[in-house]
Amino acid sequence: MTQILEPTALGRLALPNRLVMAPMTRNRAAADGTPTGLMAEYYAQRATAGLIVAEASTPNAVGQTYPNITAIHTPAHIAGWRQVTDAVREAGGRMFLQLQHGGRVGHPANSGHTPLAPSPVPLPDTVFTPDGHQQAVTPREMSLDDIHATVADFATAARNAVEAGFEGIEVHSANGYLLHQFLAGNTNRRTDAYGGSVDARIRFTVEVVEAVAAAVGPERVGVRLSPGLTVNGIEEGDTADLYPALVARLNRLDLAYLHVVHADPQAPVFRRIRQEWHGTLIANPVLGELATGPVTDAAHRLLDAGADLIALGRPFLANPDLVERLRLGAPLNPVRDRYLMYVGGAAGYTDYPALYETGSQPSSDSIVALDGARVA
Ligand SMILES: Cc1cc2nc3c(=O)[nH]c(=O)nc-3n(C[C@H](O)[C@H](O)[C@H](O)COP(=O)(O)O)c2cc1C
Repeated sequence: MTQILEPTALGRLALPNRLVMAPMTRNRAAADGTPTGLMAEYYAQRATAGLIVAEASTPNAVGQTYPNITAIHTPAHIAGWRQVTDAVREAGGRMFLQLQHGGRVGHPANSGHTPLAPSPVPLPDTVFTPDGHQQAVTPREMSLDDIHATVADFATAARNAVEAGFEGIEVHSANGYLLHQFLAGNTNRRTDAYGGSVDARIRFTVEVVEAVAAAVGPERVGVRLSPGLTVNGIEEGDTADLYPALVARLNRLDLAYLHVVHADPQAPVFRRIRQEWHGTLIANPVLGELATGPVTDAAHRLLDAGADLIALGRPFLANPDLVERLRLGAPLNPVRDRYLMYVGGAAGYTDYPALYETGSQPSSDSIVALDGARVA
């Protein structure tokens, strides 16, 4: 049986274990999207992950979703990310950067622009802005020029990410953001080459991935998918046809990996993707904040079902030394404050304790953890 803590390889990268820190938007960047020193500290604390996929970063201004998310389209963004990747490398880690265009999930109060989308179908929800939650606006339908310019922005952002010291990038084609809006029938009402049939709806994702692969090399490119997920008002309608077709097209590109969200080893769509996909598969099981035993068991069930790497989000958020805790079978810190997941400074961000912290008073969380470590 393959073990999550065994070393492995991802293309030319040697990984010390099969655990991936899932991308998590933490809204700690400066207002213009520039990463900060605090972010360098947060990611360096988690450098024992086999691979870190850094949070969604917008490739252009109009693609910005929420306040204080990171960006990667100016020299300041590149310099800000460089201090993060330097800190992680110094701590022994490796990072990819997720590239995300929000499409209709955005607001003029955040980006200064009317959001762009495949069709003028508004998000049926509010969007968080500096002035609180505001109703989503109707996005502007992308022209062919908009489509070509956006593909080019992704390619430039990928080059910027490599310049900033990332090992590669993950194209975000999941969770209801722009690329997923092209894939899904309810958000893509186009009648041109980018809408209608499955082949037409997958075209935009394929073109973005081809462009970034040409820009930085396919071995530096992963893709994230969330088949069937209805988050952000998405209804694909034909999940069982859509994803095999998309995976077949992506197979031709020799990419670093495919990353599946809400991965369930029993789900037909997961099994089908594993069957179709020739390359490395990262599975994110969505376990939330469970204890070590259930996390390890679920991860091993996915490895047995053909996953190569296991991505975890909230367990990494609350446990900077998650790898060590899983090795010891030690208890996990729970997420303390859900509000601080998406807003704030150091609190709820860099102050989650590791098992063996020196020079600081243990919080009640770390006392529990130390007890667990002693019995493990
Ligand atoms: C605070 C937070 C921010 C997130 N931001 C992103 C993101 O930027 N990109 C993305 O693809 N998924 C994002 N996600 C989803 C996670 O990557 C992951 O799929 C989800 O949390 C389920 O995994 P978990 O149960 O291990 O946390 C976010 C999740 C959380 C909790």
